[in-house]
Amino acid sequence: MERLLVEPFYVMKVLERAKEIERSGEKVIHLEIGEPDLPVPQKVKEEAKKAIDTYELKYTESVGILPLREAIAGYYEREYGVKVKPEQVIVTPGSSPGLLALLKVLGETLGEISYTDPGYPCYKNMLKFLNLKGRAVNVYPETDFKVKLENVETPVLMVNSPSNPTGTIYSKEELRELSEKTFLVSDEIYHGLTYSGRAPSVLEVTRNAAVVNGFSKFFLMTGWRLGWLIVPKELVPDLTAILQNIVISPPTVSQIAAVKCFDKEVLEELRRNVEIFRKRRDLLLKGLKEIGFKIPAEPQGAFYIYADASNFTDNSYEFAFEVLERAKVAITPGRDFGYNGTERFVRFSFCTELSKIEEGLERLRRYLG
Ligand SMILES: Cc1ncc(COP(=O)(O)O)c(C=O)c1O
Repeated sequence: MERLLVEPFYVMKVLERAKEIERSGEKVIHLEIGEPDLPVPQKVKEEAKKAIDTYELKYTESVGILPLREAIAGYYEREYGVKVKPEQVIVTPGSSPGLLALLKVLGETLGEISYTDPGYPCYKNMLKFLNLKGRAVNVYPETDFKVKLENVETPVLMVNSPSNPTGTIYSKEELRELSEKTFLVSDEIYHGLTYSGRAPSVLEVTRNAAVVNGFSKFFLMTGWRLGWLIVPKELVPDLTAILQNIVISPPTVSQIAAVKCFDKEVLEELRRNVEIFRKRRDLLLKGLKEIGFKIPAEPQGAFYIYADASNFTDNSYEFAFEVLERAKVAITPGRDFGYNGTERFVRFSFCTELSKIEEGLERLRRYLG
């Protein structure tokens, strides 16, 4: 494979090949990509259209428009019972550049940053890109893929709850213990999408932590490129300066429209989607187990199932391609999520309708069963 400055997403290769197969006229069932298929609420779309007609849509403040920062702060008060000042909320073009800027500031000021393996691949790739010291903490099925307190050895730790790829949720007590030992970066982008209990925010247990969140998952707005950070106020000047330089401002039309996301009816509409995802999760879980995948940690949130495929393979990358070519089902190889046992695992996403999940399972059954 060609040498790159950071590791690629291996799943993109799967997706490219899936697109080729589709161009040749065959249907592929997509269980690989983590992008919700459900429509963005109408009220948000209407607001965007109105903004285009009304304003010239120039740059905004680098940290985002005040009404959106206020709306996010208000949401934390209502949703989690925590008081957040709008000045601590920094709006970013998707959560990704926010995370990149945050890691830079924390890496330079506090030092080494840990991330989980398996875990969301961008964490380690961003650290590498920033030339910062990062340390993988292996997490295992026996502990629901959560970090054990005794394995925290760096001044900063990134956790993702509910997690990609495992769907694990950290309890309030677990967040408290971890935050007493290290500075936590809590990626809460899958908040709102939970199937057993709620996911607590790190801000419920400490003010000395950073939250990463955004509009791409629960709010369904991937292409609108909007996210946010909530940070202790000492971090704001550095983050503002970095964002001024690297992004100038988040997309103006998206910011104006996103204020509507926090309206009561819009939130109610979004909350109803959780039941849709829950049905999909239950169907996929049952089907995968019947086929012979082992699911050591059933997802409590997000929209993925991290499945042990050791009954079929010890090379997740080859297996993903084999399943694509032979069964015409696209899945994500475990290799994307790190090195710790990942060759035995694959990730299934349930961002597609029930009938397609049904058909995907049938194809897998025929091929593997
Ligand atoms: C755990 C996690 N964090 C962050 C992101 C980035 O999302 P965005 O940049 O669209 O806000 C993703 C996207 O898949 C994710 O899975």
